[in-house]
Amino acid sequence: MKLPIIRWNKSIREAMETINEYGLGIVFVVDNHDRLIGVATDGDIRRAILRGASLNTMISKVMNRNPVKIYESWDEKRLREYLNSPEVVAKIPELKALIIPILSDDDRIVGIKAIYRRKDEYVFKSPREIPSINKILVIGGAGYIGSVLTRMLLGKGYKVKVMDNLLYGDEGIRDLYGVKNFEFFKGDITNIKDVVEAMRDVDAVVHLAAIVGDPASKLKPKETLEINYFSTRVLGEVAKYLGVSRFIFASTCSVYGFREEICSEETEPNPLSLYAETKLMSEKVLLELWGDGFCPTILRFATVYGYSPRMRFDLVVNLLIAKAYIDKKITVFGEGKQYRPFVHIKDVSRAIIKVLEAPINKVCGEIFNVGSDEQNMSIRELAERIKKEIPEAELVFVKEKEDNRSYRVSFRKIRERLGFTAKYTISDAVREIISAFNDGRLGDYRDKKYSNYKSLAGE
Ligand SMILES: NC(=O)c1ccc[n+]([C@@H]2O[C@H](COP(=O)([O-])OP(=O)(O)OC[C@H]3O[C@@H](n4cnc5c(N)ncnc54)[C@H](O)[C@@H]3O)[C@@H](O)[C@H]2O)c1
Repeated sequence: MKLPIIRWNKSIREAMETINEYGLGIVFVVDNHDRLIGVATDGDIRRAILRGASLNTMISKVMNRNPVKIYESWDEKRLREYLNSPEVVAKIPELKALIIPILSDDDRIVGIKAIYRRKDEYVFKSPREIPSINKILVIGGAGYIGSVLTRMLLGKGYKVKVMDNLLYGDEGIRDLYGVKNFEFFKGDITNIKDVVEAMRDVDAVVHLAAIVGDPASKLKPKETLEINYFSTRVLGEVAKYLGVSRFIFASTCSVYGFREEICSEETEPNPLSLYAETKLMSEKVLLELWGDGFCPTILRFATVYGYSPRMRFDLVVNLLIAKAYIDKKITVFGEGKQYRPFVHIKDVSRAIIKVLEAPINKVCGEIFNVGSDEQNMSIRELAERIKKEIPEAELVFVKEKEDNRSYRVSFRKIRERLGFTAKYTISDAVREIISAFNDGRLGDYRDKKYSNYKSLAGE
């Protein structure tokens, strides 16, 4: 087995590359005779950088010189004595795995093990069984997608730090305060101090914060540039400098604009709004930063639908479901022939987790469309599907100069490369949303709090 080993005189930058290559979050530092002289975790490196070390500083200057280590020649008794000594107990945190080297008698590394402490018991595991990500920063985590993703990540046992400036309030995460493994940091991505503080102690970033949607962006063009583009650039740079390698960026299928052909990740983008333009510029800037251990992944989401604790009714599927259930009318403008790709909010969250858990070389520097081929649908088809679920609603076609601009998207790449397929459908969303109306989790769908544009316009 190859091991993450580096010579004492190599730089922090090279150590970060080695950590990344092996995905174990640790590097073993050896002298000129290959004898272990220290270890450095990605956390040690980040703390050193924040104390003033540069990427060119020698790793031996910032490494831990007194790590936990065991010898292959030790018998069971000797091993127990060592592991139960107060000095070692203090270094092995409860329930969290520590990766430790196994040494020959002349201090050469012959293997590694992951060790857990459960009360007074120790459990040894193969390092490959240990997840390389422990704590995830979800930027914009109080939003429509973020509040569903955060719950899913917590459900899988991850630690989640949400950074959000609560532009639309905290309804999406309010009931998570005090929940185990959840941390909230109220911060603004346009503020560099907040960005560094948020990124200080995390293993991966999911960046969802933005002014979202064409109408909201048009209303706030300056903020859209600041938040959607300039700040994304800064987030990428800070993550790269601090050695946070996994960085997932929420982009949108609307970067394709409107096209005849089915759009794949190879299709030349054609953004037709400031919102789509800033998303595309951010994609480019993050991909330019790719390298030296920084691994951005761009996810272009289809139009999202489904229930979220921070609900949005400015999204077409959610709006049509609300109108059908509350007003008993599904209004379609023109003939509804235009196609759009749709995806359920839980599938978006599943896709993000799939990318976080994928081997890093499969997702590094990649762009994936997120959705499902079956859910490329015309607005008419969408309205008919909703009517099937809510038969008492009347389908109303309003004669109007029709906007026939259409686009369809291929989701083959994420299916073939990562094995991701969507599980949820419009019918699931209808059920969830109706049940949220019925039990009082959702109020009047016309309330401005459910619309980004109306909230920002103060309507
Ligand atoms: N919902 C969709 O249909 C859809 C489709 C494609 C892409 N996306 C992308 O997914 C991401 C999330 O979308 P959403 O639907 O959850 O939107 P949302 O508006 O509900 O969430 C955005 C979150 O970002 C936060 N935020 C905004 N500015 C911030 C700042 N300066 N600092 C910190 N936090 C800030 C807001 O408070 C909000 O909680 C966005 O990047 C969006 O472009 C969404």
